[in-house]
Amino acid sequence: MRGLMPTHQSPKTFRVKSFGCQMNVYDGERMAELLADKGIKPVPEGEEADLVVLNTCHIREKAAEKVYSDIGRLRKADGSKPLIAVAGCVAQAEGEEIMARAPAVGVVVGPQAYHRLPEMIERAVRGERATDTDMPADAKFAALPARRRVNPSAFLTVQEGCDKFCTYCVVPYTRGAEISRPFKDLLGEAERLVEAGAREITLLGQNVNAWMGEDARGCPIGLDGLIRDLAKLPDLQRIRYTTSHPNDVTDGLIAAHGEIDKLMPYLHLPVQSGSDRVLKAMNRSHTAQSYLKILDRFRAARPDIALSGDFIVGFPGETEAEFAETLGLVETVGYAQAFSFKYSPRPGTPAASMDDQVPREVMDERLQRLQAALNRHQLAFNQRTVGKRCAVLVERTGRRPGQWLGKSPWLQSVFFEGQAAVGDMVDVELVAAGPNSLAAELLVPAAA
Ligand code: SAH
Ligand code: SF4
Ligand code: F3S
Repeated sequence: MRGLMPTHQSPKTFRVKSFGCQMNVYDGERMAELLADKGIKPVPEGEEADLVVLNTCHIREKAAEKVYSDIGRLRKADGSKPLIAVAGCVAQAEGEEIMARAPAVGVVVGPQAYHRLPEMIERAVRGERATDTDMPADAKFAALPARRRVNPSAFLTVQEGCDKFCTYCVVPYTRGAEISRPFKDLLGEAERLVEAGAREITLLGQNVNAWMGEDARGCPIGLDGLIRDLAKLPDLQRIRYTTSHPNDVTDGLIAAHGEIDKLMPYLHLPVQSGSDRVLKAMNRSHTAQSYLKILDRFRAARPDIALSGDFIVGFPGETEAEFAETLGLVETVGYAQAFSFKYSPRPGTPAASMDDQVPREVMDERLQRLQAALNRHQLAFNQRTVGKRCAVLVERTGRRPGQWLGKSPWLQSVFFEGQAAVGDMVDVELVAAGPNSLAAELLVPAAA
């Protein structure tokens, strides 16, 4: 849908605000690079920008409402509105509605079409509102500029979309069908990320372990093969990947954790529920048992692996006994970290019209109990690592002078003091643990 809107000056400054998952953050970075490449200057949060890109998330309710309230609030110092572009998964799911409800929005662009953002902005500047929610598989990556300056820990989208159709989830509709980016493109982007300062790369995909491709010799490979080849980049020190689906776990990926030093001992493998009845209604196509077996195999390959997962409480029809099975699974696994959510009915998904929606108070109470258990395990995991020596990748300065913050191999936040710089890998001993971070002592000061 298009319509006329007040004309704007060509924007000289911009800000991108990302609301969603790591892939949404990656998309935000790529949009920022694209706009900077066109000569528009990035400004930090809180400063006035001529163009604001709201990079939205649709996974749970109120996400869209948050976007409308942001649109309403955005104003420049002189009271006029900046040019607003709505990107991301809400744009994909509700593009027409946004255009109809929010006249201040000049551009609506979906997650597969944002390489066209600059030309859409030009149109909006001329007063012509522009919407693009096409899903042309892989086209956008080829049209994006090369990576420039990045943080020591960088994201790289290798796989996008989802064919799993869990009955509660919007992702298959907002991100489209599963596609894998070609091996040579990924190797090229990884090389440029490393040149630009990355020491750790996290490979991203909605089902990252469904990635498939052909290596340089034309042999078919899976995610483990990609990781093996990326591990050969000399200045790349750490590789991670997220999010995996239990059904796409291969023997090769499990084995890789025992064989590739640069592959970090961390696995994010969502389970959602410990009840087989609920898992079936969710269309998860694994059982609690089959999930636990997979974790056992990862632990056999890499005994110190830190396990993480996602949980939904209050899926339609979930009984107290079924919820207790989720708590039981949490006790069995002993997660190092986890994410848990109240079920949120999403328009157009099968679960939204299922009978027996669980009352909000019940969901609140279950979420509290689940999070208490998960927090207890997270603290216990952190405490078990006290006394260990490990490498920390320094990501930024801490709040106290002389303090640094980095990540352990198990993705824990680690604070230490001493001589270091962002991007260094330093050796530390972990000396104290809290629920969300650890304190460490520097063992070998980094070379100045
Ligand atoms: N592809 C990934 C991530 C999906 S979204 C995966 O399959 O795990 C991240 C998490 O959000 C999901 O794992 C799930 O726990 C949660 N989620 C998705 N849809 C939801 C909904 N409708 N209500 C509540 N939580 C949801
Ligand atoms: Fe959503 Fe399920 Fe696909 Fe994950 S696997 S993105 S939860 S449909
Ligand atoms: Fe949200 Fe889209 Fe990611 S819905 S979780 S931004 S894939």
